[in-house]
Amino acid sequence: MFGRVKPLDAILATAEKKSLHRSLGAFQLTMLGVGAVIGTGIFVLTAEAAQKAGPGMMISFIIAGFVCAVAALCYAEMASMVPVSGSAYTYSYAVMGELIAWMVGWALILEYAVAAGAVSVGWSGYVVGLIENAFSIDIPDLLVRGPYDGGLVNLPAMLIAGLVTWLLVIGTKESATVNAVLVAIKVSALTLFIILALPVMNMEKFEPFAPLGFGGIGAAAASIFFAYVGFDAVSTAAEETKNPQRNMPIGLIGSLAICTVFYLLVAAGVIGSVGAQPQMANGIGLEPGSAELTAQCAAIADQAVVCSKEALAWTLREIGWPQIGNLVGLAAGLALPSVILMMMFGQTRIFFVMSRDGLLPASFSKIHPRYNTPHVITIITGVFVALFAAFFPVGLLANISNSGTLFAFAAVSIAVLVIRRREPGRHRPFRTPAIYLTSPLAFLGCAYLFYKLDEKSQLLFVIWAVVGLVVYYAYSRSRSHVGRGLVEVHEADADAPPQPVPPID
Ligand code: ALA
Repeated sequence: MFGRVKPLDAILATAEKKSLHRSLGAFQLTMLGVGAVIGTGIFVLTAEAAQKAGPGMMISFIIAGFVCAVAALCYAEMASMVPVSGSAYTYSYAVMGELIAWMVGWALILEYAVAAGAVSVGWSGYVVGLIENAFSIDIPDLLVRGPYDGGLVNLPAMLIAGLVTWLLVIGTKESATVNAVLVAIKVSALTLFIILALPVMNMEKFEPFAPLGFGGIGAAAASIFFAYVGFDAVSTAAEETKNPQRNMPIGLIGSLAICTVFYLLVAAGVIGSVGAQPQMANGIGLEPGSAELTAQCAAIADQAVVCSKEALAWTLREIGWPQIGNLVGLAAGLALPSVILMMMFGQTRIFFVMSRDGLLPASFSKIHPRYNTPHVITIITGVFVALFAAFFPVGLLANISNSGTLFAFAAVSIAVLVIRRREPGRHRPFRTPAIYLTSPLAFLGCAYLFYKLDEKSQLLFVIWAVVGLVVYYAYSRSRSHVGRGLVEVHEADADAPPQPVPPID
């Protein structure tokens, strides 16, 4: 089962030839992380976390942040050692063999494509809220919400997914300057929120702190984990980092720490100002995204933060700052597309590498003659993202995405330990601190959060994994380049025929 391993040296030969300029310092890395991380999670899913945990969501943010921090430290060692595209998929291929790598790659489709769908829906909530409030017009729910959310189709979410796909096809990459501007916009919006919400905080609103018990806090942590996803962008920049042993952990832990502090202050602001008690029926918390919750929210004219699609803007309007609420909506409208872009970019690169390894059709890695981008796979990804965004609620998409991410993180946390034992002498620009503690903690943390996801997402993950296995055995296994004894050694030769090497199966 673990037989087909892609030789690490062949992978590294790729990286050496590519040899990017080492230019990123701790500050740029931290900015990269914050840029990829802050998005729909805090702007939108805060409402879902409140519905699951009430004020106890403060603890949920800490749990999810901690799991990400230990997983990030494992990611960083692998990324510094194997600094090529494909992230968790490539690491697993080198360490645990093709089958696990395939499953990780398959799970990463959930992480990236479904997450891009979730962020698109989040974006739609803010933009619709902004238009409705700023211009006092009422857009029919039918056209701006999916069928599970009391609508028919979420057109704005579809539109933004299409727009981002187009940008990726024509080769848009976010420059460090654009990223810095967008980070500044997001951070200013959150800061403004905190400055206005904290002074009107009322400690009584924190009671009862955990209306749905620790089970609710765990479930909210599993959802809000989404708010931290994206930091892997930092570890994949390992090859471009100056002094990675110092700067990688600063970038990873630094960006996670900054986000955690902002998230906790924002959550405290929401709870303390407008209250965050869940909507219940017969003593049971209603499930976010369910018809029951939609109906109960409609009955109170959505007058609760847990009913809002734009939790932060709604809170500001409630506490008497409608214009600032709109401004925060505008900030989300401007900044969230860059998170969609990063997610979709990640997705196309994973598909690209899998296709180049022979596990997916070669046509997927076709490069556009003029734009020089993998346009076929970008468009296929875009169509799926747009469909997810059009028809599914944000919370469900985020949870499904989390299931894939948690699987990939768990695989990486094992891989890093396996290769440390198997090849202790290999050059590691960054070493995971206290690996015998960090790696098991990361694995157990991921397993716990997966266990706390809702049943629908868990079931979908299992179905997805089974489909993945079927595709692997029916299609990919016999076509695998590694299986056929072919291994490419050069990233830039993506279109060239693979070079034969002795079979290792
Ligand atoms: N962490 C990213 C977000 O919350 C995916 O939008």
